[in-house]
Amino acid sequence: MNQFDIVFEAITSRRSVRGFLPEPVSDELISKILSAASYAPSGSNIQPWKVHVVTGAKRDELSRLLLDAFERKLPESREYDYYPVQWRSPYIDRRRETGWGLYEILGIKKGDREASSQQHGRNYQFFGAPVVLIFTIDKDLEQGSWLDYGMFLQSIMIAARGCGLHTCPQAALANYPDIVKSTLGIGNDQTVVCGISMGYEDTTCVANQFRPERIPLEDFVIFHS
Ligand SMILES: Cc1cc2nc3c(=O)[nH]c(=O)nc-3n(C[C@H](O)[C@H](O)[C@H](O)COP(=O)(O)O)c2cc1C
Repeated sequence: MNQFDIVFEAITSRRSVRGFLPEPVSDELISKILSAASYAPSGSNIQPWKVHVVTGAKRDELSRLLLDAFERKLPESREYDYYPVQWRSPYIDRRRETGWGLYEILGIKKGDREASSQQHGRNYQFFGAPVVLIFTIDKDLEQGSWLDYGMFLQSIMIAARGCGLHTCPQAALANYPDIVKSTLGIGNDQTVVCGISMGYEDTTCVANQFRPERIPLEDFVIFHS
């Protein structure tokens, strides 16, 4: 594989992994990934990201607290709308197809609330990953900085591939921002953006067979000449 093919391979082999091995990832490797990702572009180079690397006992504590909130059905208090307030086609259709696709592979039947809730709860166990990255942004930054943030997040996930690691980006980790902030000592001048679970893939995990399809190019690209 030449150096250009490697770039394409890193991008297309990134997928959301929902089953990790407990094998730890060294702080050196995590730093290498974050350092590479910091080359992501941002308007005027303002670099609006802040990352909390959570491993070991702190990871377990955060998982326990989030899972407890989820199981006790505490109200979610996200600090921003991630999804449209009013769902419509074609987005709702794609969302449903993706959701049911995963559940089908897992053998979860429509209407089986217990099983789907259990699978959702796996978010708060970081799908078994030994590393969870929590991302925050200053509350007074604007939409442009959120655009920058997306580029940074994708760079982390691609750089992780370069180290043989996999990731799962998780908006679910912004569902209980108060818990995240109090556990990690994050001030209220910050918004919790999302998290990324990271580690080595458990290739025996059925959920990892799931590969949601992409819409064809002609559905989203217009060439002008
Ligand atoms: C910002 C962001 C938040 C996401 N949040 C979650 C989440 O909370 N839980 C989850 O299982 N997947 C989450 N995903 C993963 C998406 O479901 C996934 O990216 C999409 O289905 C496409 O699949 P792929 O990443 O495997 O290519 C999130 C993705 C992004 C980009």
